Amino acid sequence: MKINDFKLEVYFEKYEFTAPYLLTQSDCESMEIAELLAMEPGSQEKLLHSWLGYTEVQGNPELRSLVAALYRNVGEEDIIMHTGAQEAIFAYMNVLLEKGDHVISMFPVYQSLYEVAHAEGCEVSPWELKPVDGRWTIDFDELETLIRPNTKLIAVNTPNNPTGFTFSEDELEQLCAIADKHGIYVFSDEVYRGLELNGVSRPCAADIYEKAASLGVMSKAYGLSGLRIGWVATRDADIIRKMKRFKHYMSICNSAPSEILSIIALGSGDRILERNKNIIKNNLELADQFFGKYDRLFRNFRPMAGPIAFHRMELNEPIAAFCETLVQNSGVLLLPSDIYSYKGPYFRMGYGRKSFSESLNRFEQYLIEQKLV
Ligand SMILES: Cc1ncc(COP(=O)(O)O)c(C=O)c1O
Repeated sequence: MKINDFKLEVYFEKYEFTAPYLLTQSDCESMEIAELLAMEPGSQEKLLHSWLGYTEVQGNPELRSLVAALYRNVGEEDIIMHTGAQEAIFAYMNVLLEKGDHVISMFPVYQSLYEVAHAEGCEVSPWELKPVDGRWTIDFDELETLIRPNTKLIAVNTPNNPTGFTFSEDELEQLCAIADKHGIYVFSDEVYRGLELNGVSRPCAADIYEKAASLGVMSKAYGLSGLRIGWVATRDADIIRKMKRFKHYMSICNSAPSEILSIIALGSGDRILERNKNIIKNNLELADQFFGKYDRLFRNFRPMAGPIAFHRMELNEPIAAFCETLVQNSGVLLLPSDIYSYKGPYFRMGYGRKSFSESLNRFEQYLIEQKLV
């Protein structure tokens, strides 16, 4: 299979481990193993005495039952673990799609949600999020017009990367009803679930619709990206069986210590989510003050949920050139909209890190130096 470069990863490869002021990251603040183990008595013993052999292809059963408990209508047998969410996306798209299928993908979105389909010879139609009065919105009538007789899949991601747009419960029901009417599968990337800033937790697509798959991960809301533990939840047993067979050709099984550490983390899951939501809320307040101060240069698109937002900036140069000069001259890393193949002067800002205030200050200082504010 030939596949286009993953623009975001190519950009991060250049700067993620060298730029001192990361102002665009999508994962929440991580922690040391010692901090995680201190959350639950007995967890150090559990880790030290865990077995370092191969694990079950579908995933450690204890972990799968903890993951299943995050859903309303999903059992342990409906979960398949993968090495991060990325591997799960690749596997799902490969087992479901064939050349000539039509796919509808929310847009802008994390590139693999449409790029893997494209590489497989599918035609992809974007279902666009639109900026209206400082909010990102989506139109379900437009979705209906995009459906063709050969539409196999609708791929969505909410809370959305990069906009922070999130479906309400009614909207998710509406999406599943439309898909059901036409016999279309739904792939719902929900890796930022758990970071609903208004406290309203939403159901998942896999809870609502049997032909839906929900994607989850330890990387984002829990901030444990180094574990590389992700999963797909679906009540479609045939998809689970096919993904297992496909995994035989990828990682075969997950890292045993990562599965144990994920079990320990989910045992304290609510505490970790609370900690990370508080970091995001504090950072959003700082950002509101910042954007309020410089409202001639920026349009603040506050996220509905999750740790990222896609803001507008009025510039006399392309946003990609601005971001590149910014990181080279000040060490502040932002992601320009070009990374998402999205036209318009938007950039992604990340709110999940404790260093946000320091990075924002450096960004402000740069704007002052450049006489942009
Ligand atoms: C929407 C979305 N889906 C999937 C992934 C992949 O997650 P992971 O890095 O844990 O594989 C990301 C990572 O940024 C993401 O933002």
